[in-house]
Amino acid sequence: MSADSPSERDEIRTMAHSGGTEIAVGTGSGDDEQVAALEFPAVLPVLPLKNTVLFPHILSPLLVNTQRSQALIDEVLVRPDRLMVAAAVRTPELEGSPGPDDVHRVGTALRVVKMLKFPDQSYRLLVQGVGRVAIEEFEGSEPFLRARVSALPEEGDYESVEMTALVRNVTSQFASLVSDSSRLSNELQLVAANLESPSQLADMVAHHLDLDVAGKQRLLEETNVAERLKLVLSQITKESEALKLETEIKEKVQSEMGRTQRDYMLRQQLEAIRRELGESDEGEEGVEDLRERISQAGLPEEAQKQAARELERLAQTPAAAAEHAVIRTYLDWMADLPWSKVSEDQLDVAQARRILDEDHYGLEKVKDRIVEFIAVLSLKKDLKGPILCFVGPPGTGKTSLGRSIARALGRKFSRLSLGGVRDEAEIRGHRRTYVGAMPGRIVQNLRKCGTRNPVFMLDEIDKVGTDVRGDPSSALLEVLDPEQNVDFSDHYLEVPMDLSQVLFIATANLIDPVPAALRDRMEVIELPGYTLEEKIQIARHFLLPRQVEQNGIGVIGGVDFDITDEGLRALCEQYTREAGVRNLEREIGSVCRKVALRVAEEGLTGTVRVGPDDLDALLGPVKFEPELAEESGRPGGAVGLAWTPAGGDILFIESSRMPGQGDLKLTGSLGDVMRESVEAARSWLRSHASGFALDPKVFEENDVHVHVPSGAVPKDGPSAGVGMVTSLASLFTDRPVAPYLAMTGEITLRGKVLPVGGIKEKLLAAKRAGIRAVVLPEKNRQDVNEIPAALLAGLDLRYVGTIDEALGQTLSPSASPSGPSAGH
Ligand SMILES: Nc1ncnc2c1ncn2[C@@H]1O[C@H](COP(=O)(O)OP(=O)(O)OP(=O)(O)O)[C@@H](O)[C@H]1O
Ligand SMILES: [Mg+2]
Repeated sequence: MSADSPSERDEIRTMAHSGGTEIAVGTGSGDDEQVAALEFPAVLPVLPLKNTVLFPHILSPLLVNTQRSQALIDEVLVRPDRLMVAAAVRTPELEGSPGPDDVHRVGTALRVVKMLKFPDQSYRLLVQGVGRVAIEEFEGSEPFLRARVSALPEEGDYESVEMTALVRNVTSQFASLVSDSSRLSNELQLVAANLESPSQLADMVAHHLDLDVAGKQRLLEETNVAERLKLVLSQITKESEALKLETEIKEKVQSEMGRTQRDYMLRQQLEAIRRELGESDEGEEGVEDLRERISQAGLPEEAQKQAARELERLAQTPAAAAEHAVIRTYLDWMADLPWSKVSEDQLDVAQARRILDEDHYGLEKVKDRIVEFIAVLSLKKDLKGPILCFVGPPGTGKTSLGRSIARALGRKFSRLSLGGVRDEAEIRGHRRTYVGAMPGRIVQNLRKCGTRNPVFMLDEIDKVGTDVRGDPSSALLEVLDPEQNVDFSDHYLEVPMDLSQVLFIATANLIDPVPAALRDRMEVIELPGYTLEEKIQIARHFLLPRQVEQNGIGVIGGVDFDITDEGLRALCEQYTREAGVRNLEREIGSVCRKVALRVAEEGLTGTVRVGPDDLDALLGPVKFEPELAEESGRPGGAVGLAWTPAGGDILFIESSRMPGQGDLKLTGSLGDVMRESVEAARSWLRSHASGFALDPKVFEENDVHVHVPSGAVPKDGPSAGVGMVTSLASLFTDRPVAPYLAMTGEITLRGKVLPVGGIKEKLLAAKRAGIRAVVLPEKNRQDVNEIPAALLAGLDLRYVGTIDEALGQTLSPSASPSGPSAGH
């Protein structure tokens, strides 16, 4: 039988914390003297304590719930001194009632201060420790233990330095333990600081330490106060260490938890943002999905290896890392590129021709070349050959021919406009180390069309620029060279891509600005522009039906709409001046829109025929007047032919003279070469003055002004030589230039006429402008022979080898300025 079971022990502790010690403070020093003076009765009841040791000077609660112990208490309460002895049981596991041999021989004398009987028959006591006692001999064990005891004397010099140091040390260490520990009430710091006796301090602290029964018993038995303080001190240190360790671990765990918690929260938010942006994070399945797509894409070996490496990296990079997105994008590109997707070629020559004819009027030579090309492809099945390059003025159908070729071959079409491309990286891509790097336009376009064998048009190859960021044309060289483009390297992809199946076609307005090395790889096919008759045909069969459909007049309006041939002719002559048909199509479109508006607004129905007389009302006044007749009637006015990127054009040359000192004035934005032509013309004329019955003095006494309208458009080139000399000769001889006649040719001081370029374009321009005769260099006869006869119909061509011959053709025989009547 014992006074307290484990659970009771707990209860004792709790109660002890709630103020038991405080009472002890009040009685502290007095008790000490009491104890010292205390004469114990020789025999006292002994209460065996399981699991706890009570110390002197401490007020503790105690629960007693066994009959044997209650009998003991009953007897103590009737004693006038209310004293008893509590002694710890040696082996707490002991079953049954502890006998004399089961308890320690050192115990604590206690006085019962208060007792409450509870309804469950248990006793709750408040006991005050009075002193250490030694149990000398047991006197009996029934109904409870009784023993003869004596007070245990203490040793220690309270005044010694060691004692003082120990006390101070214990006080401060205990204070810090209390403040660190949540188990000990902070008031204990105060209690400890106010205890005067070192022995009491040791006992008080011992009572609160986290020691087992054996440890506490050891402290109880220690009668040397200094030793007891030392033991207490070492225990405090141990507990402090443990506590520190405990808080450290707790903090670590907490901060670890905090970080994971924080990361978790951030990821959660990131995910939410991603979802908002519609780019949800795919995680593991994403990698698998990519792996699948890449294996489907049929990558060549090297690319396959690279993709596998990157997939590995992707799997190891957390989705939140910036690098993840970079790798992800790269792999997307790898998966999406048409590494092995090809479209079946349609190599039927007859069908190809039919399709080409369906899309474009005329252009026979070009179509023949394309059909040849397809024929070779069908036999040889490889594309190694020159790259076709269509050269011609705007709106002559270069780009649309490319589309048509793709259709004829049954291939996809992709167009890359090189106009203004200055950076090599646009062609070849940026290395992946760049922020926001992307593959070059070649690779981008291939992904867009989804096959590795499209018709790929490099549009406007003459407009490629060069600057500090590298030369795009060197990258183009690699693209266009069949020997090199088998493994075209894009900086972004890092692995070679085979472009040898791609059918490249280039277009340019002018061939001259194309770098020689590039030109060398291409076969130039010229599209010089259309004659008036051709334009009318194109308009009738292609442009007009397309515009009618786009503007919904035929279908929605139910109007029988048409522009008459005469109307189309007037559109070509008076509303456009161009080699191609782009503006013509625009004008037709605007006629259609105006009519559509009337259908919608005024409910116009029935038959609508637009003729030349309706154009003024629909499109406004004529944009290009036929000024030709007017100009050619006056001496000094001549019509030259120019060659511009927009095709051929006619060029008016006007000269006038006034009294002066023989100065020469040139206006109209003339380039150096053209200025020199004028000088040469004048010099030649001066040196041949006698041949024209001219007094050489006229050149010294007159200033000459040569002007070439339209003044704001820069003009240059040597081919205006014949025009200049004609204009000056006409001016000084007063013989007007023959009407409806145009001329071209370079001159030398010795009177020769040299051949010039762009004959075809110039002749077309002359025809468009209503010219009937053209004077041109003898040496250009060969160029003319290559032009289809149909183009030349209606043009009187006069070849000349010298200036004399030229003037013989250009100047009217008489000096009478009777020009032909205007209008043609
Ligand atoms: N021979 C033709 N038959 C039918 N339509 C034509 C013909 N030539 C040109 N066109 C039409 O003219 C329009 C302009 O042609 P396209 O865009 O191909 O010109 P381009 O030569 O590429 O000009 P640019 O040099 O300005 O790029 C297109 O709608 C095209 O269909
Ligand atoms: Mg084009």
